[in-house]
Amino acid sequence: AKITILPTAEEASQFVAERLVTLVQAKPACRLGLATGQTPRRVYAKLVAAVQEGKVSFAEVETINLDEYCGLGQSHLDSFAAYMHRELFSGAGFDPSKINLIDGAAADETAEAARYAALVRSRPADLQLLGIGTNGHIGFNEPGSPATSRVRVVELSQETLDANQPTLLELDRVPKHAITMGIADILDAREIVVLATGTAKAEAIRKSLSGQQDEACPASLLGAHGNVHWVLDEGAAKLL
Ligand code: F6R
Repeated sequence: AKITILPTAEEASQFVAERLVTLVQAKPACRLGLATGQTPRRVYAKLVAAVQEGKVSFAEVETINLDEYCGLGQSHLDSFAAYMHRELFSGAGFDPSKINLIDGAAADETAEAARYAALVRSRPADLQLLGIGTNGHIGFNEPGSPATSRVRVVELSQETLDANQPTLLELDRVPKHAITMGIADILDAREIVVLATGTAKAEAIRKSLSGQQDEACPASLLGAHGNVHWVLDEGAAKLL
């Protein structure tokens, strides 16, 4: 795997934003796989700035997102759909018809997962952006998720519920279930960029890059992919 370690989260985010801009400049109608969470927020702010500076256009880009909480529609502030509109889509000139999100409010979650599974498999992402959980999860593929997993309804681990609790805007508690792309869906991307910042991620990064592919640390399963770039700040790289 390719590993880039930069002194700060700011520089790591800048590096990732530049990679995304370069890709979209070279392939304006690419498919981007996107993540939510605290980690990519700086990246998205930089993409919005790049659009405002006229460096790039996302008008032709198609997006797919990794995951969504069950029960939350896009009008709910804590939905990942609302996050994407707030942090990126509304300011960066995306075409609403090319944005693909999971409907967390769908009455039939299994049917929604099946709809999204087909959509994900219809075209590989040119680049999948990932964050990583402190327990090594990618998307909401918690420890124990098989490398063959596809889009499905999952139950979140206590560690993930606790980690996401402070980020809630409107809800009192993190939903216990989510719909997530599977590990196999993530591995279908042509290029994967994992951004991890801060010492809280150091242990997960150490396990992920130990060379052993183990379901107990889902991000270690990225070792099966030939084009993964890990972009870390010094905190996240502390145990390497
Ligand atoms: C978000 C996602 C999650 C996060 C991970 C890290 O769409 O799929 O895997 O990337 O939980 O979250 P932060 O960045 O908030 O530490």
